[in-house]
Parts: sequence; structure tokens; C-alpha cells
Amino acid sequence: MSPEQTFPSAARLFPERLKSPWWIGHIPFAFELIGRMQPRTVVELGTYSGSSFAAFCQAVEASGGNGHVYGVDLWQGDVHMGSFDEELYQEMAAFTSTRYPNISTLIRKDFNEAAASFAEGSVDLLHIDGTHTFEAVTNDFETWLPKMSDRGVVLFHDINVTEQNAGPAALKFGVRRVFDSLKANYAHAEFDHCFGLGVLVVGNAPDASVMRLIDEVKADAAKAFFAEKGDAVSKHFESLGIALPQHGSYGAESESTSSSVTPHDGQSAPVAQSHRSLLRRVFDRLRRMVA
Ligand SMILES: C[S@@+](CC[C@H](N)C(=O)[O-])C[C@H]1O[C@@H](n2cnc3c(N)ncnc32)[C@H](O)[C@@H]1O
Repeated sequence: MSPEQTFPSAARLFPERLKSPWWIGHIPFAFELIGRMQPRTVVELGTYSGSSFAAFCQAVEASGGNGHVYGVDLWQGDVHMGSFDEELYQEMAAFTSTRYPNISTLIRKDFNEAAASFAEGSVDLLHIDGTHTFEAVTNDFETWLPKMSDRGVVLFHDINVTEQNAGPAALKFGVRRVFDSLKANYAHAEFDHCFGLGVLVVGNAPDASVMRLIDEVKADAAKAFFAEKGDAVSKHFESLGIALPQHGSYGAESESTSSSVTPHDGQSAPVAQSHRSLLRRVFDRLRRMVA
């Protein structure tokens, strides 16, 4: 069987909404996972301008299931991204209410606070993409693990941020360490492209189709297929010429919000500046990759 036959949702769908470059190489895998899994409840921690969120919504809609996608974010910024203007949230809210009014909900809360809105065992698919320090990602995983259903799968973005691909600011990223500390205990898969995606099957009774997918993507040919499909998405994004928003510095002026955004992370403005320089380098690198 060709990869197109093995991974039909990844082969068939193409993303409708692309707003930032950092995650979009994983959209083909998200399409395939959701197509097979048909999750009832998807939760994303860290929605920002919605590239990953919109892909989850598109896949849920295309799967014909009755899933619902929740995007959790304060839309205030964080120690990596800087501080956001209110328009970022307004644009996301307008998008979701017009394009996916029945299957999506934005929750404007701190991740820890939002967890109280979900019953234990109710979340099928969780995407962790908020603050990327070791402490923050550990906190997000531990806080949300009890919410995961028997079919539960957790995605971790940025398991492959290195000094080679992102410069010195990569030292602040602890996702790789968290994922490595967990993966011995769970069925898992991982991708290196687009700064890496970790996939952890945390439920006790996972779908057979999901377990097959976890096995299938271990093959080099499958990894190459998803990397190529992801690269095609990145090239398309580049061709759109979308300007990324400039964010302000996050720290002293956000003192009152920093504890709610990142209660476990005392970093401030200098880190935000270093991360903005990381984001510039990442974007330059993507430009070179697709040139
Ligand atoms: C890397 S961005 C998410 C990118 C997004 N998934 C995409 O596809 O473009 C991280 C987001 O997490 C949010 N965030 C970080 N820590 C948070 C927390 N503890 N509570 C709520 N939002 C948080 C930030 O506001 C930011 O929008």
C-alpha cells in the first residue's frame, strides 16, 4: 500500500487556515489522527492565532463525527511569545464563531483554571502547546492527565527545539525532557520535523486504529511521508506572504498577569526578548527551507 492509501485523511485534506509557521508541518498527522480516532472532546492548551486549532476543527468536521474542539488560552502572551494585542483574540473569536460555531469553543482562561471545566475522563485528545519550559509542560501534563479518557492521546509540540535549529533560546525549552521522561510508560510516536511532535497514548483502552497508526508512523517511509506533507503546508504558508504580528515585551508590565499565565515560571522580559529572537530565527529558517 502507498502512504496515500495508508494515511487517507493526511493525503486528502489540506489546511484551510494558516496563521503562523511553527506548528503547521504537523497538520497532516493531526488530520490522520483525528480521522481515525473521531475524538468526542479535543482540548488545545495554547491556541494563539489558531493554526493548529483550525486544523483540529477542520479534521473533526471532515470526519463527520460529533466531536467538539476547545481552545484554551489567555491571549495575553507568555514568557516566550511576548505580550499580545487584544485584536489577536478578537480575530480568533470572530473566526471560530463564523466558521465553526457548532463544534468549537474558545476558553479564555489560564490552563490550570480551565481544567476545572472538564470532567475527569472526558478528554480524548489533548494538545499541549503553551509555555514550553520543563516546569510548565510538566504542570500542564499532570494537571490534565486525570481529565483524559480511556481512549486518551496527548500531543506535545516542540520536542525537537535545539540550539542547532533555534539558537540559544532553545535552552529554555523543556518539552523534549518531559516527553522522554514519560514515553517509557506509554505507547508513543514522535516526529522530528517542524520542531518536533510527541504523541503519547495515555488511555487504558485506546482505539485499535490509533494503535495501528502509532505503529505505522515508526517506519522511516511514514516519517518521510509526514515530513514531506508538512513541508508542503509550510511552502504553501510561505507563498501566502502572511505577516506575523509583532508582540510587545512580556514581563515587568505584565507583572499582574504573569502569575496567572505561568504560575510555575518566574522568567520575564529578557527571556521574552530572547524568544522573540528565536521566533525570528525560526521564521528565517523556514524561509530558507522552502526557498
Ligand atoms: C506557542 S503559542 C500556541 C501556538 C498555536 N498552537 C499555533 O498553532 O499557532 C502558546 C500560547 O499559549 C498561551 N499560554 C501560555 N501559557 C498559558 C497559560 N498558563 N494559560 C493560558 N494560556 C497560556 C499563550 O498566550 C500563547 O498564545
